[in-house]
Amino acid sequence: SQANPARIAILTVSDTASTDAATDKSGPTIRDIVTQRGFRCLDTCIVPDDIPIIQAKVQDWCDSGEIDWIITTGGTGFGVRDKTPEAISSLLERQASGIVHLLLSASLKHTPLAALSRPVAGTRKNTLVVTLPGSVKAVRENLDALLSGGVIDHAIDL
Ligand code: MTE
Repeated sequence: SQANPARIAILTVSDTASTDAATDKSGPTIRDIVTQRGFRCLDTCIVPDDIPIIQAKVQDWCDSGEIDWIITTGGTGFGVRDKTPEAISSLLERQASGIVHLLLSASLKHTPLAALSRPVAGTRKNTLVVTLPGSVKAVRENLDALLSGGVIDHAIDL
């Protein structure tokens, strides 16, 4: 990913952060981590927990042909407003259940509460989409699992 660094877009899904961007800690955390790893962060956006709004942004990025990897944060749990997995899964052309297994198995080593996240991952056109939970702690742990083993680098190369 050094010669041709993967192009990333980050979507924060949160009713609260969509009205006050200063409360978004997870989006900036993702940006810091992926930038340190040599990826290029081309765009970020904060949207409320609203299926059509989430889908419009993700579809836009996938259809642009300019984004290799979309990382979302938030809205993956069992809260009544949590619907990121539903919004994303209907957009995916191919499911990446191996990535979902990786996220959950790595996260369960940190906390049994990882079972409360409902991550989805997959591709639409040439873009990989992965949903992460909303907390900074969860974001760090999940990105560590994805990035340390070279899984994402290889997926994006393909
Ligand atoms: N995964 C990891 N690795 N570490 C965590 O601390 N927190 C869990 C879970 N996944 C957690 C985690 C908790 S407490 C919740 S409620 C769910 O993610 C869903 O989070 P979300 O609704 O903000 O997406």
